[in-house]
Amino acid sequence: MKPLIAGNWKMNLTAKEAVHLIDNLVVPEDVDVVVCPSYPYLALTVAAVLKKSIQVGGQDCHPADEGAYTGDVSAKMLQDIGCTYVILGHSERRLHHGETNSMIQSKVTAAMAKDLRVILCIGETDAQNQANQTLAVLAEQLTQSLPADVMADRLAVAYEPVWAIGTGRTATGEDISRAHGFIRKHLSSRVPASEKIPLLYGGSVNAKNAMSILSLAEVNGVLVGGASLKIDDFNQIIHAASSQ
Ligand code: PGA
Repeated sequence: MKPLIAGNWKMNLTAKEAVHLIDNLVVPEDVDVVVCPSYPYLALTVAAVLKKSIQVGGQDCHPADEGAYTGDVSAKMLQDIGCTYVILGHSERRLHHGETNSMIQSKVTAAMAKDLRVILCIGETDAQNQANQTLAVLAEQLTQSLPADVMADRLAVAYEPVWAIGTGRTATGEDISRAHGFIRKHLSSRVPASEKIPLLYGGSVNAKNAMSILSLAEVNGVLVGGASLKIDDFNQIIHAASSQ
């Protein structure tokens, strides 16, 4: 499978900066790249990537197609404007918006029904890590946030230890391999053709550590926050994935 490099821009950039960043990204043929801007910039990003092999995703979606949900955006709308991906279950959504696994599951179902590829984020907190609960947390999040009839070609799973996001602390190669091996095994027990599902690592990925993370077994890509906002850094991460 081609490595998948996803940029989660979170609540950052201006319209001008987003277009400038896209214009300066260099994407080799053997790497899949997706960028996930905030809602106001989705449409202009879709237009900006037209001549490039870059895909665009949302950072969340509502489970309903439409209705009286002030401030929300549906998977149907993301699909309508040309998005092909959506990040779901990010720890910042779980923390700041009280998202539970069951809410996330209904969003995953809605997104897959609209042919979006879901990047499902899972990962343990620092306290859970210290208490050796990492694998139990991952098992619970996978079991409860994936629908029973999940389709392998519409899913990517991002292992993002909460304590590694935006902190400059990355998990060790050994910990990443252990978590990814566990996720792969879990998926193979319940999803047909699960070997097609890219497993991404996320949490303080940067231009310096990307190559070594991407070379680990069962790491098929990375989900990048801060470093995806900087042209040189993001290009270096994309380049590190080429020929992996
Ligand atoms: P970070 O964010 O790369 O800034 O740690 C990753 C993420 O939140 O997906």
